[in-house]
Amino acid sequence: MTDTGRQAVAVGVLVSGNGTNLQSIIDRIESGELLARVACVISNKADAFALERARRHSIPAIHLDHRQHQNREAYDAALVDALKSHGVELVVLAGFMRILTPVIIDAFPNRIMNIHPALLPAFPGLHAQQQALDYGVKVSGCTVHFVDAGCDTGPIIIQAVVPVVEGDTEDSLSRRIHKEEHRIYPEAIQLYAKRRLTIEGRCVRIAPAD
Ligand code: GRF
Repeated sequence: MTDTGRQAVAVGVLVSGNGTNLQSIIDRIESGELLARVACVISNKADAFALERARRHSIPAIHLDHRQHQNREAYDAALVDALKSHGVELVVLAGFMRILTPVIIDAFPNRIMNIHPALLPAFPGLHAQQQALDYGVKVSGCTVHFVDAGCDTGPIIIQAVVPVVEGDTEDSLSRRIHKEEHRIYPEAIQLYAKRRLTIEGRCVRIAPAD
């Protein structure tokens, strides 16, 4: 027990790629800024560098291959089993490139978070940074939200804004957004860990700090 007697929230992180958001979460936990522990990291891709990041911190790193399952529901049921067997309370999607079915959403009601590299509801789905550039917006950013059955439609927890500057490419804008992702994702998890989040309709209310 830490922090006025609260137990660290057991987080399961789902990844498909590099895992810089996973790294920022691990770093904040290790520095004592985030009252959580990463109970497991699960990837649908064997070569996701995020799995290696987990191993380096002695976190269970699990490859669960979607191609070994008959359909999305069967895969999600396997995810639920793995998450529950590691005692996960909060599921954190960090670059997990799969659409979730109700099998996992209903198993963790209002306990799945995602980060999206745009200011939702603008530019949901893939290539959000390029969508923003193509549209010609002058600011973009990132959004942490709870996951519901839609695509990037769940209640918004935190957003951060970055400028779009002349000459930006998908890469340069993504890098600027990523810095903010690394700041707000641990913050959102910390708000959850401190039991400060409640959902009213599609609005997330944030209780004042103790
Ligand atoms: C991030 O841009 C996030 O917004 C999106 O997937 C990317 C994951 O990046 N959902 P990383 O693997 O955490 O570096």
